[in-house]
Amino acid sequence: MKAFVTGAAGFIGSSLVDRLLKDGHSVVGYDNFSTGQRRFVDDAQKSPHFRLVEGDLLDLDKVKSAIAGCDIVFHLAANADVRFGTHHPFKDIEQNLIATFNVLEAMRANGIKKIAFSSTGSVYGEATVFPTPEDAPFPVQTSLYGNSKIAAEGLIASYCEGFGFQGFIFRFVSILGERYTHGHVFDFYRKLREDPSSLEVLGNGKQRKSYLYIQDCIDAILIAVERANGKVNIFNLGQNEYCEVNQSIGWICERLGVSPKLSYTGGERGWIGDNPFIFLDCSRIRALGWTPKLSIREGVLATLEYLKANPWILEARS
Ligand SMILES: NC(=O)c1ccc[n+]([C@@H]2O[C@H](COP(=O)([O-])OP(=O)(O)OC[C@H]3O[C@@H](n4cnc5c(N)ncnc54)[C@H](O)[C@@H]3O)[C@@H](O)[C@H]2O)c1
Repeated sequence: MKAFVTGAAGFIGSSLVDRLLKDGHSVVGYDNFSTGQRRFVDDAQKSPHFRLVEGDLLDLDKVKSAIAGCDIVFHLAANADVRFGTHHPFKDIEQNLIATFNVLEAMRANGIKKIAFSSTGSVYGEATVFPTPEDAPFPVQTSLYGNSKIAAEGLIASYCEGFGFQGFIFRFVSILGERYTHGHVFDFYRKLREDPSSLEVLGNGKQRKSYLYIQDCIDAILIAVERANGKVNIFNLGQNEYCEVNQSIGWICERLGVSPKLSYTGGERGWIGDNPFIFLDCSRIRALGWTPKLSIREGVLATLEYLKANPWILEARS
């Protein structure tokens, strides 16, 4: 297949690009490098089957011409930050909803009908059912990010209905592993490198989260795209376990050989829109034959090893 990958220089996008190339596909990567890293596409750029287009998804004409000739779109570009949503309320609408609209319009103009989309477990807001299934009671949004993603899901579903598209929508828990550039392991590692004697934790540390390793996430996306045959295919992607943030701090500190004094900012949530408990029911994707290979602990430690070996990332994303 010839795939168009938006956010191709990002954490998840670049990992997907490498996998697609390894599996023998051709890839056009599209990225504006707002958070993407040039080093993440270094390997891909050595392949004759990869073409990188540097551009913004808000530039519809550019997307229309870059996407020509592709037969499937993996739309991963976004403002992936949840925490600072209220600092710039239009950003999520622009980067996550209008950008998705442009991708859909560029597909329509070029007769491309398959789209895989990175949504998020944040769309469930503060869920009331655990593990949370895809058809959980219609969720109340708690973040501008989650809101923009559920709106984008709706847009994709409307294009499936109205224009005969096929959609694959993935609601991820937090993803971690190689090329990880944001999230709790990143924050804790950065702080502990600066001062191993103390660590400030947002919230009360009792937030329960389910983290998924990047290669398991990529496996799930590719299995779903190959095997699911509905019009709008929605999948939760996560682990069938969760951990407390405090537990993860324990694994990180043990691996780094540090014993910081912990201080908590307090409250059940680390920030507005932080869901104190995320645990998704992933039986739908598991029924297609997918099983994650790494446990949460193994994923956290693999991430830590990656950050230790790539300190440039701390600078690049500071
Ligand atoms: N990382 C996670 O834990 C996680 C969890 C749930 C959902 N997601 C979703 O997965 C996707 C990828 O996340 P990530 O962690 O790789 O984030 P990331 O920030 O590493 O990657 C996003 C990429 O998109 C690019 N981009 C952003 N806006 C763009 C625009 N207007 N035009 C062109 N390129 C643009 C950035 O430069 C970057 O390379 C996002 O849609 C995110 O919302 C991520």
